[in-house]
Amino acid sequence: MKILMVCLGNICRSPMAEGILKNKLSEHKLSAQIDSAATSDYHIGQNPDDRAVANCKKHGVDISQLKGRQFTVDDFDEFDRIFVMDSSNYENVVALARNDKDSQKVELILNLSQPNTNMSVPDPYFGDEDGFENVYQLLDAACDILVRELKDE
Ligand code: 4NP
Repeated sequence: MKILMVCLGNICRSPMAEGILKNKLSEHKLSAQIDSAATSDYHIGQNPDDRAVANCKKHGVDISQLKGRQFTVDDFDEFDRIFVMDSSNYENVVALARNDKDSQKVELILNLSQPNTNMSVPDPYFGDEDGFENVYQLLDAACDILVRELKDE
C-alpha cells in the first residue's frame, strides 16, 4: 500500500500526517510506503515549519528531516490512496486527475475519523501553537482509523 498526504505548503499538515502515520505503522509492525507533497511550489526543498516539528517532537514523532516537494500527476500512478487536508487541496488535486481512477484516489483525510462530513484540517500556518496541537489531534485520530483499515487488509 502506498499512501500520499497532501496540503498547500507541505511544511505543516501533510508532513505531520506523514510522521504520525509512519510512527503508528511501525508501532503496529505494519509496512506501507508513506510520503507527502504540496499543491503549491512555495516551500519546495524545505524542512517542515519549526512549530510543526516542535509539536510532533512533543508527541514523540520526528519530522525534522522531511523535505517539501510539489504534487505531480505521476503521483496518481505511484500512490494507491491520496489524502488531502482541506477542500481547497481536494479541488487542486482533483483538477490534475486524468480520469475517474485518478480522482477516486483522492480523499479528505478527516472523512476517515468523521465519515461523510467533508471536514477540513484547519491551516495552522498563520496561527499559534494551539493550532498545531489541534492539527495533531485531528490527524492522530484519522491515522488511527487508517491503521485499523490497513490491519484488516
Ligand atoms: P500547510 O501550511 O499547507 O499545512 O503546509 C501552509 C504552509 C505555507 C503556507 C500556507 C499554508 N504559505 O502560504 O506559505
